[in-house]
Amino acid sequence: MNRISIVVALLLGIAMAHRVDQPCRRKSTKPIHPVLKSAPLQDQALPDNWIWNNVNGVNYLTNLKNQHIPQYCGSCWAQSATSAFSDRIKIARKAQWPDINIAPQVVISCSMNDDGCHGGEALSAFEFMHNNEVTDETCSIYQARGHDNGIECAPITMCKNCQPGSDCFVPDQYYTYRVDEFGQVSGEQAMMQEIYQRGPIACGIAVPDSLEAYTGGIYKDTTGDTDIVHDISVVGFGVENGTKYWVVRNSWGTHWGESGFVRVIRGENNIAIETDCAWATPLDTWSNKTMHHTTDAEKKDPKNAKYVKNGPYPERTADEVFLAKDHKTCKRVPQSAIIKGTLSEQKPAVMPWDELNANTLPANWDWRNVNNTNFLSWNKNQHIPIYCGSCWAQGTTSSLADRFNILLKDHNPTPIDLSAQTIINCQAGGSCNGGDPSGVYEYAFETGIPDVSCEQYVAKNSQKDTCGPMDICKDCRGPPPAEGDDGQQNCWAVDYKKYYVSNYYGLSGADKMKAEIFKNGPISCGLMVTDGFEAYKGGIYSEKSFWPMINHEIAVVGWGLDEATKTEYWIGRNSWGTYWGDFGFFKIEMHKDNLAIETDCTAGIPSFTKPQKQHFELIQ
Ligand SMILES: *[C@@H]1O[C@H](CO)[C@@H](O)[C@H](O)[C@H]1NC(C)=O
Ligand SMILES: *[C@@H]1O[C@H](CO)[C@@H](O)[C@H](O)[C@H]1NC(C)=O
Ligand SMILES: *[C@@H]1O[C@H](CO)[C@@H](O)[C@H](O)[C@H]1NC(C)=O
Repeated sequence: MNRISIVVALLLGIAMAHRVDQPCRRKSTKPIHPVLKSAPLQDQALPDNWIWNNVNGVNYLTNLKNQHIPQYCGSCWAQSATSAFSDRIKIARKAQWPDINIAPQVVISCSMNDDGCHGGEALSAFEFMHNNEVTDETCSIYQARGHDNGIECAPITMCKNCQPGSDCFVPDQYYTYRVDEFGQVSGEQAMMQEIYQRGPIACGIAVPDSLEAYTGGIYKDTTGDTDIVHDISVVGFGVENGTKYWVVRNSWGTHWGESGFVRVIRGENNIAIETDCAWATPLDTWSNKTMHHTTDAEKKDPKNAKYVKNGPYPERTADEVFLAKDHKTCKRVPQSAIIKGTLSEQKPAVMPWDELNANTLPANWDWRNVNNTNFLSWNKNQHIPIYCGSCWAQGTTSSLADRFNILLKDHNPTPIDLSAQTIINCQAGGSCNGGDPSGVYEYAFETGIPDVSCEQYVAKNSQKDTCGPMDICKDCRGPPPAEGDDGQQNCWAVDYKKYYVSNYYGLSGADKMKAEIFKNGPISCGLMVTDGFEAYKGGIYSEKSFWPMINHEIAVVGWGLDEATKTEYWIGRNSWGTYWGDFGFFKIEMHKDNLAIETDCTAGIPSFTKPQKQHFELIQ
């Protein structure tokens, strides 16, 4: 190659890295009719700085997404609308547990006035969510395919469950959400009033090359680009060194910009950010736990047929099937390697139970509400879009993510959530056929785990023997792949932030569990799943087995005391979606090793820096 062709190739390479080759934001072809019930907002005195992830120390923002994985999808319009809507639900619920993450997947599959992965408009997404029920990510996980390229609207794309050995199905009941009022807003002052008084909004913007290349600071385009091709959410405003800016959350992952955010100069309509914004208010469907009750017609809807295939779900040997009785051995080792002593622990100098006496700890301790703050990462459903026995990767990454939220005192840009799919891709303890939670801590210690905006959960084993950079953290560019094309030829590996553990160790017994949870945060524990546990719907569960066979992994996030019966219980988080148990959580009686929950627990100490390995060499 001569010098000129190298330069041309480099330029091409840069051009090809574009994430918005085609506009992801497209005006709806049908007229949209805003629904305005309450009186227009009256101007209020505004503070200089107002950002919804720190309002008097409270973080009201929901998770930051990457719309371009597992393959490219031009869903910015659905992402910006569902994120702003999720934030406003969180604001209405005063940031109390649980965070609700509205599923953009439902919108890109079902909003027929928009073009799915080929683009749409946030205002239209709000109109759709006003006219129709929507669900959360544990019902309809993001698959980056819309009605235009592979995932059409059907009852099963609204909400799904999958179990091994059978077709996937629509759950009997699940939570739904609706937009109440929605409308348009533009101009600096009106946008600030809307954001300050009611919460984040979704806005269209132009995307000059310099915005794609943005890495930090207050952004200002100098080319005069006002061609709106992208939708983002504006979550606040501020002033720094006399320069006014908007705080913008993008949906390009945390590896872009300032942890996924960009501050855009305010008051100049730069990149047309003050031209065309939309807002929506949530209808309160949560106070009375309103659920959608699935009808027979919905269960049998012929449109489901294309999405019921539950494969490739893991095949098991006859012995494994026998041992698990019902095929559900997700945790494949009766004892974690850490507990068994076959994986050397990395212990801190002092163990929490050596400095904390369980009898002196509070009667109730629940990380869903400590100091009036919910420190927990979002709910998971390991069983969608297809069945995957990844509990061992879920209970561990979820409790570790909680611990990072605790470490940062919830003062992170958005709640932290670690990628279980990276763990599966790298076989760090197992696969969708089950695994050992110990491997996750070892991986976190040796390598560090990326957050979920690096690898979308696809519930599949990697087809490769080794895990390469693309299996750990990736991004993808357009065009949206057609149905049947996996689009991976347009993806590349990206650098990412690593979440480590400085120590990890095993523990068992109620006293040690309490001391560990109190001092450091949620832990992951093995559990024996039974039919009774599967059918759990609420209350304090109790089931003692004399020959417990641990086959599942969950997180224990706290404990409590039932005053009426003087019963102590654990508070556990499962990874079976919000439609299971109490919003995905359960209570189980303490001290009796019910379902072996006090037998095989593991914990890790969160760290942002790569830890040093302990040396055990004998000094002669
Ligand atoms: C504001 O000024 C401080 C101190 O000079 C500097 O560190 C910071 O980067 C400036 N911020 C911006 C956005 O320019
Ligand atoms: C919840 O139910 C109560 C009692 O039926 C009712 O008074 C209240 O308005 C309902 N709240 C919502 C938000 O639907
Ligand atoms: C809760 O508040 C107390 C008192 O301000 C403080 O000492 C403690 O660190 C807080 N706990 C967490 C987890 O932030």
